[in-house]
Amino acid sequence: SVSLNGEPVVKRPRDSVEPDLSLRALKEPQNKVTVVLGAQWGDEGKGKVVDLLAMDADIVCRCQGGNNAGHTVVVDSVEYDFHLLPSGVLNKKATSFIGNGVVIHLPGLFEEAEKNLNKGKGLQGWEERLKISDRAHIVFNFHQAVDGIQEQQRQQQEGKNLGTTKKGIGPAYSSKAARNGLRVCDLVSDFKVFEDKFRMLAEHFLTMYPNLNVDVDGELKQLKEFAERLRPLVTDGVYFMHKALTGPSKKILVEGANAALLDIDFGTYPFVTSSNCTVGGVCTGLGVPPSYVGRVYGVVKAYTTRVGVGAFPTEQDSVRNRGAVTMWLVGPDLGSIRPHGQRIALTKLDILDTLPEIKVGVAYKVDGEPLPSFPANMDVLTRVSVDYQTLPGWRCSTESARSFEELPSQAQNYIRFIEDFLQVPVKWVGVGKSRESMIKLF
Ligand code: GTP
Repeated sequence: SVSLNGEPVVKRPRDSVEPDLSLRALKEPQNKVTVVLGAQWGDEGKGKVVDLLAMDADIVCRCQGGNNAGHTVVVDSVEYDFHLLPSGVLNKKATSFIGNGVVIHLPGLFEEAEKNLNKGKGLQGWEERLKISDRAHIVFNFHQAVDGIQEQQRQQQEGKNLGTTKKGIGPAYSSKAARNGLRVCDLVSDFKVFEDKFRMLAEHFLTMYPNLNVDVDGELKQLKEFAERLRPLVTDGVYFMHKALTGPSKKILVEGANAALLDIDFGTYPFVTSSNCTVGGVCTGLGVPPSYVGRVYGVVKAYTTRVGVGAFPTEQDSVRNRGAVTMWLVGPDLGSIRPHGQRIALTKLDILDTLPEIKVGVAYKVDGEPLPSFPANMDVLTRVSVDYQTLPGWRCSTESARSFEELPSQAQNYIRFIEDFLQVPVKWVGVGKSRESMIKLF
């Protein structure tokens, strides 16, 4: 017989009660995972950083979120657009893995693969390179419809919505937490059992939202077809990861979706997504023990914007001051990078090329008192005033720079300022969309 990681089990004599002392030795993790996470409110350019690291990875994983996020990867002037598929699917030598923490809209998954195949794009054979966890939950069309209704209700009742992408991600995670969600393992098992559970779930939502537009029979027919396409891709995700982590040497990459300030626990709640997009999501969304988490790279845009709705103090200032001085910021919003990233990939520096000066938010104050940390309460965040430090801009193109030395001195200063402020080193700087437009600092 063999042990879980495939090694032969050494049989001891039947009457021996002596423990196997080798089991008590603390083993060093074999293959640690490298993680790329968004450190702001999304759209940081995670796709390019992931693509860079995925080129020589053996396994590329998604651990949370659904097709509400998107990575853009540009290779040889061809633009790929990924929402559910790990960007590593472009690497023909790598296995891509969608973990249990992801919620999957199957029509979305297959459409995405088709779209990225067209026009000579190199995604051929993606089905052979993709594994999907049997424990991942499924997003149904009615989850998407419910998402739309809930946003409408929020708008009517509270005068504001959450700004969701209406892809059904929140309602699908709600089903998961309510314990009536359906998983990939249900779909690829006995379809009759799946059908009964599906009808019950649809009924549950119809009771809550009587005007919900659900085509139960139509969706079941489509799901039955998807089940056949899906079956060869489905794997026991926990066992898959265990073998990957404890087996022969492998480079394993995890690409985060969404971003730290959209994390359901640490983000600007309730204007957040429904999963943990910080590093804990890697453990729960894949079945990776914490000791197997290796390097964590936080992707930071050289300025801040936010995806969706919600308080964002420096933006309020930049809107107020539009036309006078352009303001961009890093700063307190980025405090989140410290626990969640050990290295920074600073992207989109080129976007700042034309600015005469750059204002960096360095502290939040409420009633004149500085806040020691990022506030949990959004009412507080809407009341903060921001202290800025002004740095000179460089007013020239950085797009062709390929080394730190080739950047204008003001841009170099800006990068060093960010490092000093956050006390986290910048490892890469992005100066354009393409794979090549990435400067490696160390
Ligand atoms: P979400 O998953 O939606 O949060 O976004 P993301 O972080 O995956 O962002 P994505 O990789 O899709 O990048 C967003 C856009 O920024 C794409 O159009 C990229 O091509 C572009 N981009 C990435 N890095 C750079 C850069 O250094 N400079 C410029 N100008 N554009 C960049």
